[in-house]
Amino acid sequence: MRIRGDHERTPFDFLTIAFHWLTAGLISFQAMSGLLLQCFEGKLPQILDFHRSAGTAVWCIALMRLVWRATFAKFPQFPDSMSNIQRWLVSRSEQLLYALLLIQPVTGLVMTLLLGEPFQLFVWTVPALVSRNLHLWATALTVHRVGAYCLFAMVGAHAARALAHHYLLRDDVLEMMAPWMKRFRRPAENYLSSPADPGLDPGEGKGTQPARVRALHSAQSASVRSVRSVVVRPHPQNN
Ligand code: HEM
Ligand code: HEM
Repeated sequence: MRIRGDHERTPFDFLTIAFHWLTAGLISFQAMSGLLLQCFEGKLPQILDFHRSAGTAVWCIALMRLVWRATFAKFPQFPDSMSNIQRWLVSRSEQLLYALLLIQPVTGLVMTLLLGEPFQLFVWTVPALVSRNLHLWATALTVHRVGAYCLFAMVGAHAARALAHHYLLRDDVLEMMAPWMKRFRRPAENYLSSPADPGLDPGEGKGTQPARVRALHSAQSASVRSVRSVVVRPHPQNN
């Protein structure tokens, strides 16, 4: 649960960040191995073993993330510039991501069990637990496929939003989850990333300089000019 916005934002805690990027890596592997399995119609036993184990790891990590979130996790507040609707959308999309992270491995496991054969999971061999049912297996494969496309679409939109915040809106949303991407920011630049800033002139939007920043910049240059005129002899070329 995040509390309401504040100017002071501290990044996510270390474990939340570690879980997040580990999941991102595993999902990338699942996308690549899933694509290979689709091309070769599942006839890649080694890849299939890794795919099953990595998918099961995603499920375990999602569960640990939810427990951590509900107990000791430290989340940054939403930025002030975010409207209530945006906050609601972000929270719902996070819930949907968690739901998909938990459901997708289960459909894969059900599909595997329906083959009615022993299979490898990490270092263990899981025995055949149910009898072979190829009709239900085909249904489970469709569900697993649709679930994967939904998950990849959600993750794509989620990553695109994070990158848009970083490169277009130039705020600290991505830096909260990837602190190594922190860029040097002059204090005045913070105003630029806050479209809901009360200091904005009417009609001024993102990407334009708020009146306060322009005033600050012109005041700074005026004071530099006046100091230079006293202590530095003006160079002829600067006039
Ligand atoms: C590939 C699978 C991914 C999954 C399943 C995923 C899932 C999530 C979830 C559930 C959260 C909420 C925080 C939490 O509970 O840990 C989150 C936050 C975040 N993720 Fe991802 N993520 C993925 C990939 C990415 C990528 C590739 C990026 C960046 C390009 C990214 C950037 C972020 C950012 C910036 C936040 C914080 C958002 C905010 O504070 O509003 N994520 N992610
Ligand atoms: C987040 C987790 C997972 C994702 C994103 C994922 C994604 C995919 C994708 C995209 C495919 C290709 C589907 C196709 O043929 O069109 C696939 C195939 C498959 N997945 Fe997963 N999967 C996940 C977890 C699992 C787990 C945990 C298992 C089993 C324990 C599993 C078992 C399989 C099997 C057996 C196939 C091959 C189906 C065939 O014979 O063509 N998956 N998966």
